[in-house]
Amino acid sequence: MTARTADTAATDAVPIIAARGVCQEYKLARKSLFGQRERLAALQDVDFHAMPGEAVGLVGESGSGKSTLTRVLVGRERPTAGVMEYEGRDVWSLDGAGRRQFRRSVQVVLQNPRSSLDPRMTVGVSLVQPLRALHIDVDPKARVREVLEQVGLGVDVLSKYPHEFSGGQLQRIAIARALMPHPKVVIADEPVSALDVSIQAQVLNLLKDLVAELGLTLVLIAHDLSVVAYTTSRVAVMSAGRIVETGRPADLFRHPTAEATQALVDSVLTVEKGLEGSALL
Ligand SMILES: Nc1ncnc2c1ncn2[C@@H]1O[C@H](COP(=O)(O)OP(=O)(O)O)[C@@H](O)[C@H]1O
Ligand SMILES: [Mg+2]
Repeated sequence: MTARTADTAATDAVPIIAARGVCQEYKLARKSLFGQRERLAALQDVDFHAMPGEAVGLVGESGSGKSTLTRVLVGRERPTAGVMEYEGRDVWSLDGAGRRQFRRSVQVVLQNPRSSLDPRMTVGVSLVQPLRALHIDVDPKARVREVLEQVGLGVDVLSKYPHEFSGGQLQRIAIARALMPHPKVVIADEPVSALDVSIQAQVLNLLKDLVAELGLTLVLIAHDLSVVAYTTSRVAVMSAGRIVETGRPADLFRHPTAEATQALVDSVLTVEKGLEGSALL
């Protein structure tokens, strides 16, 4: 009886986004004219998922494959093996309508807002652009106002250019832009790594609030365990292209089992106090 209940629960609970056995190989440049091109396995048999409304962390040292997994999760790169699913369906076999739905529903925020926003466009133009690109038929003015309010900015930002903002404000604008198409999932790849430590918590709090208030699913990627521990309730640790450990942040801090997790815990000891205190809650 109990087993049956658990079974039913398991079938009801379909991850909103999932990578199953995903491998990604890159061919490297030839070292000599007639030499074989070597391959680099950037992702090896990666299983990763997020449930609707969940905030999941992905953490690992530089070069471990986090941004590669981001590109696979948003459908920018097709994995060399394995399956990438959105709401239980293989993203790479969706029809046109399904694919459009996926592209609207999964948005990304990158590390450096200065390179993700066009310096020649006003913030207003940048914000409206995803609506055009994704053929979303809503009143752009009303949507822009709504989204600016969600990220805590006023309409005065609309006529300004990126260089007129600080990094923290600009990352808020990049988050607003990601929200424009009404996504269900936001994947944030090191969204605070390029920001002053003093404003990192503000941006992380904003992401947390968006999960709580909009019911967004968040995949937060960082090389710093305290950043993901502060923001998410389940964390996957990546090392050399593989997920080596998954757990609740507090458990990973207290009982890291993988070597890579231990290394991340050790490096947190040097990290800003503000985040550290609340990380273990
Ligand atoms: N387009 C590419 N071609 C070749 N190698 C790549 C490419 N993209 C990433 N890599 C390699 O894949 C590995 C993982 O990179 P990346 O996903 O950027 O890691 P992270 O985001 O964790 O720092 C690195 O060794 C990187 O050099
Ligand atoms: Mg990266």
